[in-house]
Amino acid sequence: MSVTRFLTGITTSGTPHLGNYVGSIRPSVRASLRTDVESFYFLADYHALIKVEEPARIQRSTVEIAASWLAAGLDPHRVTFYRQSDIPEIPELTWFLTCVTGKGILNRAHAYKAAVDKNVAAGSDTDSDVTAGLFMYPVLMGADILMFNAHKVPVGRDQVQHLEMARDMAASFNHRYGAHFLLPEVVIEESVATLPGIDGRKMSKSYDNHIPLFATRARLKKLIGGILTDSRAPGESKAVEGSSLFQIFQAFASDDETQELRQAYADGIGWADAKQRVFERLDRELTPMRERYETLMRDPGAIEDLLLAGAAKARRLSTPFMEQLRHAVGLRSLRAQSDADKADTKAARVVLPSFKQYRESDGRFHFKLVDTQGRELLKSQGFASPKDAGAVIRRLHKEGVAAWQELAAQLTIAHGASSAEVAIALEQLAGANAAG
Ligand code: TRP
Repeated sequence: MSVTRFLTGITTSGTPHLGNYVGSIRPSVRASLRTDVESFYFLADYHALIKVEEPARIQRSTVEIAASWLAAGLDPHRVTFYRQSDIPEIPELTWFLTCVTGKGILNRAHAYKAAVDKNVAAGSDTDSDVTAGLFMYPVLMGADILMFNAHKVPVGRDQVQHLEMARDMAASFNHRYGAHFLLPEVVIEESVATLPGIDGRKMSKSYDNHIPLFATRARLKKLIGGILTDSRAPGESKAVEGSSLFQIFQAFASDDETQELRQAYADGIGWADAKQRVFERLDRELTPMRERYETLMRDPGAIEDLLLAGAAKARRLSTPFMEQLRHAVGLRSLRAQSDADKADTKAARVVLPSFKQYRESDGRFHFKLVDTQGRELLKSQGFASPKDAGAVIRRLHKEGVAAWQELAAQLTIAHGASSAEVAIALEQLAGANAAG
C-alpha cells in the first residue's frame, strides 16, 4: 500500500473559531486516522510574524491552536505535529528557494498585489507599508511544503495560488540541481461549505462575527442567541435557506437531527426555541472537547514538550534532506572536494538513488531501488539469475519511468513509498545517465 503524505500549516495569529473547526480541524483530524495517509500538521508561527506585531498574541495563539487540535482528537503519536520555528531547516530552505524563484512571480501574488493596488488607489508609493516579509510569504510557504516532500496540501481556496508557486519553485530547483522535490498537489475540501458567522457573512475573525471554538457555555449561549434571524414570529413557518442558525446546526448534527430541525422551521418554531436547540446540540459536541482543552491550557509546559517531540520527529527527515540539498547546490565540505576531484565524474559527485541486489532465502535474485536517504522505494520479484535481475535494472536505469511502466508486473512499490517518489528517483537516474 502506498502512503500519501498530507501537510498543512495553521498561522498562529488568532483563536480558533467554529468555522476553523468545521472547515479545517475536524476534517484534518479525521483524515489523520486513515491508515493510507501520513499527516504533517504544523503551527506556522514564522508566517504569523508577517501579520502580527504583538509578541504576547503570537504566543497565546500558538498555545491555543495547539491545544485546540489536541482537544479535537489529534493524536501526536500518529501524526507529525510541530511548530515551524522549531525546524531551522525551513528558513534555510526558504533561502535556497528564494534563489530559484523569479521576482516577477512574487510580484503577482494576490496578497502582495492587493497591498500594492490599495496603495495605488490611495495615491501612495506602490510599496508603502509593504514589508519584504509579505512579499516573501509564498516562498516561506513553499519551503514548509517542499521540506517534507508532501504529496497533498489541504488548504482554503485563497491559498491555491501559493500551491502553484510551490510547484514552480520545486520545478525550478529540480531543473537546476536534479530531481529533489515532488510537485505538491492542492486539496480543497469542496464538501465543507464555509460556515456563516453570526451576521450571516462567512465566519471570520476579520469580520468579528465568529464564535470561538472553546467559548465558555455561557458565552456560547449568548453568541448563538445573537445570530441574525428574520423577524418572523413564533407560529410562522421559517425558511432554512439563508438561515445561518440552520447552517451552523447542520455542520454539527446528523442527517436525522437536521431533518427534525427543518421540520420544526416549517412548523413555525420560535427563534428563541430554535436557538436553544442549536445551543444544546453544539454544546453536547463541544463540552467534552472543551474540558480537554481547558485541561491542556492549564499545562502549557506539556504542550511545549509535545511540540518539541514533534519537531524532533520532523527533523529526522528535514536534517538529512537539507544536507542532501546543501550538497546539491554546492554548499559542501571542502574536505570532500579532493575526493570528488579524484573521482572527477559528475555522477560521482551528485548523490543519486541506487539499486541494491540481493538474494532471498528461496535462492532467487532480487533487487530494490533505494532513495538517497536509503529508504526503499521499489522492490522486484525474484529472478532466476543475477543476470536477469541486472538486465531489468539496466533498463530502468536507462529508460526510467517508461521502463517501469512496461515492467510493472515485476515490480512493487515499497511500503511507505509512493509512485511519485519512484518516478522522481527514476527520472533522476535517467537524467544523470543522459548527462553522462
Ligand atoms: N498560508 C496558510 C494560511 O494562511 C498557512 C500556511 C503556512 C500553510 N504554511 C503552509 C498551509 C504550508 C499549507 C502548507 O492558511
